Amino acid sequence: MNIVLFGPPGVGKGTQGEKIAAAHGMRHLAMGDILRAAVRDETAAGRDAKTYMDAGKLVPDAVVVAMIEDKIVADAGTGFLLDGFPRNVAQAEALAAMLHKHDLIIDRTIFMDAPEENLLKRLSGRLICRACGFGFHRQYSPPLKSGCCDRCSGELYQREDDREDVIANRLHVYREQTAPLLDYYQHQEGFFKLDAGGEMNVVYAALQTIVES
Ligand code: AP5
Repeated sequence: MNIVLFGPPGVGKGTQGEKIAAAHGMRHLAMGDILRAAVRDETAAGRDAKTYMDAGKLVPDAVVVAMIEDKIVADAGTGFLLDGFPRNVAQAEALAAMLHKHDLIIDRTIFMDAPEENLLKRLSGRLICRACGFGFHRQYSPPLKSGCCDRCSGELYQREDDREDVIANRLHVYREQTAPLLDYYQHQEGFFKLDAGGEMNVVYAALQTIVES
């Protein structure tokens, strides 16, 4: 099965995407994680992307489309869950062309949404493990030991783009560029809307129902 998850920053795409992909044996292809790895490895694409990411802007389409195509093709046999791609209509059109070229389809396109006050609280309290990338939240899913990852004991940090001023810019970019994806997808087969404003386990149960429907 192949899935697209989209929605605003902080809605829980990464948290839920990782769990659902593991439960169904799919690869979790998170565009933000792929870009952050490229920045960390100082690749040419990573150097291009960093300035945009730090400012909360979208990385140019040509850069992200080239990066994701290889991953999609590599994971076509096992199935993949796309999280954070596509993020505008041009990327959705590039994805459609890519799928057609490789004879693939998307089985579910799921739009996750939550009130903006939830998004702000989720983003400002998020902590990430520097070693394994696992996510925590100061209030909603705190680590057992402060500053330390439960899974691998790595150091927890706050993402640069989870600063208040950058969050505001990311939400603006979302409203301007990503929200129009709703019109693009909502009349296509396999589209679902998920209320992601509730607790994590409630959202996960609702997502499972959609995936297994
Ligand atoms: P990316 O990393 O994809 O960021 P994002 O889309 O802004 O999404 P987030 O990772 O912030 O949020 P999420 O929805 O995954 O929430 P999470 O599960 O972590 O992209 C970063 C940047 O890369 C972009 O700004 C852009 O520059 C660039 N980029 C990426 N893709 C691109 C593309 N296609 N084109 C161009 N540029 C691109 O949850 C957040 C927190 O809330 C966590 O702490 C979690 O524990 C907590 N939480 C989750 N669910 C719940 C819940 N139900 N209740 C309480 N807390 C919850």
